Amino acid sequence: MTQLHFRRNRRLRTSNTLRSMVRETILTKEDFIYPIFVIEGENVKNEISSMPGIYQLSIDRLMDEVDEVVSLGIPSVILFGIPATKDSTGTGAYDEQGIVQKATRLIKEKHPELVVVADTCLCEYTDHGHCGVVHGEKVLNDPSLDLLAKTAVSQAEAGADIIAPSNMMDGFVIAIRQALDEAGFEDIPIMSYSVKYSSAYYGPFRDAADSAPQFGDRKTYQMDPANRMEALREAESDVLEGADFLIVKPALSYLDIMRDVKNSVLLPVVAYNVSGEYSMVKAAAQNGWINEKEIVLETLTSMKRAGADLIMTYHAKDAARWLEGK
Ligand code: PBG
Ligand code: ZN
Repeated sequence: MTQLHFRRNRRLRTSNTLRSMVRETILTKEDFIYPIFVIEGENVKNEISSMPGIYQLSIDRLMDEVDEVVSLGIPSVILFGIPATKDSTGTGAYDEQGIVQKATRLIKEKHPELVVVADTCLCEYTDHGHCGVVHGEKVLNDPSLDLLAKTAVSQAEAGADIIAPSNMMDGFVIAIRQALDEAGFEDIPIMSYSVKYSSAYYGPFRDAADSAPQFGDRKTYQMDPANRMEALREAESDVLEGADFLIVKPALSYLDIMRDVKNSVLLPVVAYNVSGEYSMVKAAAQNGWINEKEIVLETLTSMKRAGADLIMTYHAKDAARWLEGK
């Protein structure tokens, strides 16, 4: 018989131990940031119908959730707020007694070591549901920057460890950096939603945060899903403006972008495994169509493999348990 020359790639897959020795990507619970929705009111624990297992929680019901996150060894949460009332300029976002500010103070008091990330945007607080102030149907850029900067400072004053602006106005990173520095918060990092696409995958989040735009859409400020070079432009400007982390969002349909961004910047990259990605997995799992645990761990691993250093995910609690073999 003639001698065949081929590489025996299967040699490195022959046992569990050997496979684990050559594994290139390791997912750990330290990678996770868990999103929490805090709502004004008392004794509220509303499950979001499109996001099974995820709740709107009032301040008095919040701590059970936070205790669980801490006991699972998840290092960080990101807070979204649903205020009692909304207005045209999103006053609730930068109110000292705002919902996120109150929740942050309470969490940091009990769990000083937990890293609290504050999402900095106006859409949950404006009656029109846009991420900035509007004039007619137009979302105004520069007038929104002052309000976003005020929001960031009030979140930092409440004890937030990281500011995560998600509004996609131009110049928001430098505006917020300058305001934080002036207020004495030069050590608070900015985790910028740098590459944020205008995506249908945010649908369930807008149920959870009650933040759907009341007219039009977010296409004049969020990115076109067809664009790749533009993602690098967004990443570059945020780096120049002083961002400390860059978020790519959504994650699953944009893993190519995640890799591009990872290869072009020297900052930690964060994947946001968004609400619609979560809902699809939960729906299929509830139907018994997929193995939820395996699908979730494979999906989160693929995000790390694509270049994410951290992952914001609604699956964090389950995944942390599964990774511990529970
Ligand atoms: C608000 C914001 C959104 C998300 C995070 N911050 C929604 C949006 O831009 O409409 C989406 C998160 C998710 O879908 O899980 N600016
Ligand atoms: Zn917004």
